[in-house]
Amino acid sequence: MDWGMQNRFNSVFNPESGKTIFYAVDHGYFMGPTTGLGDMHKAIHPIIDYADALMLTRGALRASVDPALRKPVVLRVSSGTSILNQDLLHEGISVGIEEAVRLNAAMVAFSVMIGTESSERDTVLGLSKVIDEAERYGIPTLAVTAVGRGLNRDARYLSLATRMSAELGARMVKTYYCDDFERVTSSSLVPVVIAGGKKIPENDALTMAWRAIQEGAAGVDMGRNIFQSENPVAMMQAVGAIVHKGATVDEAYELYLELKNG
Ligand code: 5RP
Repeated sequence: MDWGMQNRFNSVFNPESGKTIFYAVDHGYFMGPTTGLGDMHKAIHPIIDYADALMLTRGALRASVDPALRKPVVLRVSSGTSILNQDLLHEGISVGIEEAVRLNAAMVAFSVMIGTESSERDTVLGLSKVIDEAERYGIPTLAVTAVGRGLNRDARYLSLATRMSAELGARMVKTYYCDDFERVTSSSLVPVVIAGGKKIPENDALTMAWRAIQEGAAGVDMGRNIFQSENPVAMMQAVGAIVHKGATVDEAYELYLELKNG
């Protein structure tokens, strides 16, 4: 990797654990108003202090984030369809590379819809184009896989989507946790992070994060299970205990309760 690419790539990882927590608050770009993200400033600060990177849209970044932020930004650069559209995530490039540079993005994120009849080809080519442009400027690309309806998110599908994304040149892949997750991480050429998905009880979300780390994930890219938690700051710290400090699920959940009730 060239110096700029290496530096941006390294910036999203915790230097001690070598792992990462992206705090994902980009949901509004296709879901509109989202529970927990009404007041974006409140949803981001001070939770972001306990994460390694912030994943969001350019609109939210400009409107709601203090430019004094000391965390790397993972910028969403794809869009095209909304939650109302059956063809969810038939996305194209919606933010140019110059804008990503202007916003000092450490990484750009593009959603690819592998295995769908209507949007596979477009999104695979869109991802490839983003990678081409981002590489020119030394910016790593995060491929976001498997968001959308009707997908069978098993290890066979997720390892295919992950491996394809890496082969296309993504420097990191975001996917979902599944049974036999090691099959996904071991067949990837690049680090893999898991999305949290829909809000589930805190203990279950911590269990999922713990399992993903045990099975080779480089970290998590978590949104709803943080900002929709009863106590987002406590939940982010509990996730941090698992990802960065090797805590068990019980230890992390106890920490969550302690901070929440404290
Ligand atoms: C949507 C996204 C989200 O950032 C991603 O799904 C992570 O959020 P959550 O943990 O709520 O699933 O990329 O396209």
